[in-house]
Amino acid sequence: MRHLISLDDLDAADIAGLLSTADHMAEVLGRPQPKVPALRTKTVCSLFFEDSTRTRLSFETAAKRLSAETLTFTASSSSVNKGESLRDTVETLAAMGVDVFVVRHKTAGLPLSITRWCDARVVNAGDGAHQHPTQGLLDAFTLSRALRRGNDLSGVRVAMVGDIRHSRVARSTVRALHVLGASVTLVAPASLLPAAFVGSDTVPEGWPVSVSHSLDDVIGDIDVLYLLRMQRERMDNAFISSPGEYSAHFGLTDARLSRLRRGSVLMHPGPMNHGIEVAVDLDTLADHGVANLITRQVTNGIAVRMSVLFTLFGTGSEAIDGQ
Ligand code: NCD
Repeated sequence: MRHLISLDDLDAADIAGLLSTADHMAEVLGRPQPKVPALRTKTVCSLFFEDSTRTRLSFETAAKRLSAETLTFTASSSSVNKGESLRDTVETLAAMGVDVFVVRHKTAGLPLSITRWCDARVVNAGDGAHQHPTQGLLDAFTLSRALRRGNDLSGVRVAMVGDIRHSRVARSTVRALHVLGASVTLVAPASLLPAAFVGSDTVPEGWPVSVSHSLDDVIGDIDVLYLLRMQRERMDNAFISSPGEYSAHFGLTDARLSRLRRGSVLMHPGPMNHGIEVAVDLDTLADHGVANLITRQVTNGIAVRMSVLFTLFGTGSEAIDGQ
């Protein structure tokens, strides 16, 4: 693996390998000194042109735990404001000896373009509504480890709810969960499904899912409720009549919480819109026998990103065994 642009580029064995390496990284993170020398000679630069809290800090933490040097490029205080082109910016940073760019940009396909502009490795940290591969991996890792299923999610029923249309997380997480054997149902109003779904009775190619327009129809028969954030910053039309209306039909309310099976789990990639997709007090989930995996997703993101950075360089396992 030279770059990580899309989970569509990885097969089941690649994904299982990354998750197994993430188990090893999680063990490293549990040590008194949670750091290994594996990437001591490498420089990892985060190149974020969109707002981010968890993804950027998670990648930077992962790089530091592997002993890499880290650089942070912040678009708002850079020469991009003096009109420097994106390509010149990338070439300039590459000339400083960057080994890996971790890239987030509103344009789908930009991380792939960067692979052609320089010799550095590239990891996609979210490109428009296209892909967010490490989120897909960390979701698969979190779910399979919480259910104690190894790398096999066959028979696990997942409802992914909300703004599928604008969600790169949906595209990556559906792929990762499907490859491990889970059955995914997308639950959304027609206006929040990708354009390819609209006006067609069949599910478009590339989407290994079933579709429902009613959360109430599916909520009693699922093992995993995966809520997505309403991506208001990507909406150029009125896709929903109002947040209150959305919440009434597609939010996790107290009434819906009481219909979730005991032993089921809740996931969300963050950041959450409280009162919209999450309209319950999350502290009450345990009373219903529902596990909240949201914080575990964040924690596991570090081990999964360590696995990805480590795998890019194909370093031998001795590099993570040393203290
Ligand atoms: C997601 C993103 O940026 O795509 N956030 C994240 O990385 N955890 C989801 C979102 O913004 O809703």
